[in-house]
Amino acid sequence: MSTTLEVLFTPAEYAHLGRRDLSKTVAVVFDVLRATSTIITALANDAAAILPVAEIAEALRIRRRRPEVLLAGERDGVRIKSDLTGSIDFDLGNSPREFVTEKIIDRTIVLTTTNGTRALQACAAAKTVLVGSLLNLTALADFIEREHPIRLLLVCSGTLDQAAYEDVIAAGALCDSIWPQYSSGMVADSVRIARRLFRLEQKDLAAAMAQSRNGRRLMAHPDLAGDVPFCAQRDLFRLCPELGKDGVIRAQTNTAEALSQPHSRRAG
Ligand code: MLT
Repeated sequence: MSTTLEVLFTPAEYAHLGRRDLSKTVAVVFDVLRATSTIITALANDAAAILPVAEIAEALRIRRRRPEVLLAGERDGVRIKSDLTGSIDFDLGNSPREFVTEKIIDRTIVLTTTNGTRALQACAAAKTVLVGSLLNLTALADFIEREHPIRLLLVCSGTLDQAAYEDVIAAGALCDSIWPQYSSGMVADSVRIARRLFRLEQKDLAAAMAQSRNGRRLMAHPDLAGDVPFCAQRDLFRLCPELGKDGVIRAQTNTAEALSQPHSRRAG
């Protein structure tokens, strides 16, 4: 059977995934600035699991049932506080640099962000859903080389309702790594666009990301500007988190355990 490789650029595209048969599809979700970079960093730094939810109210409901969970996430890029919850401040925002081992070790983190957690949920019917970023590119490429999925779908979470430059670059970087395996199959034009963009920008990923809509917003915020160079790092971690059928993201699933080398355990 011929392979298929496709990139989705915008929320409008992944909003329709519910209508597609994804039973043979491996989906990789990118929200480089910053949700998927944060999830990968948190799991590399020994969080037990991440529970992505779309709404603040859902996060609060889970906290009432399970007081031991940490609440994390952003609206407009900044940590969710009592003005939005009507009661408590969230424990953490959506900056990967906040998710240090001391704060999160062995904790389950309920995460709600504007685009990233929605994109993950939109892919839930896929056979496998992996969490992607520049931080774990080689781990993703190794997984794909080993498992060689027939249908591979790279989903860019975007910024609000638009495409996000940094997500397209990261999807393009993965397309570039796996090109020899997929180029003879059905390759969507979106793959060629993403791969070209990555090749154009690969010499300075941090500078490219700083120009993006979300990059500019973060760079203008003194506490968050450091997130852009942090998220632009390639292969800081060697893990391939997976969204399980129970809706929970873990570092160690059956497939992740099969990775040939152990992942790094600490954020730089
Ligand atoms: C999102 O999910 O939209 C992003 O991660 C936003 C951000 O915190 O930068």
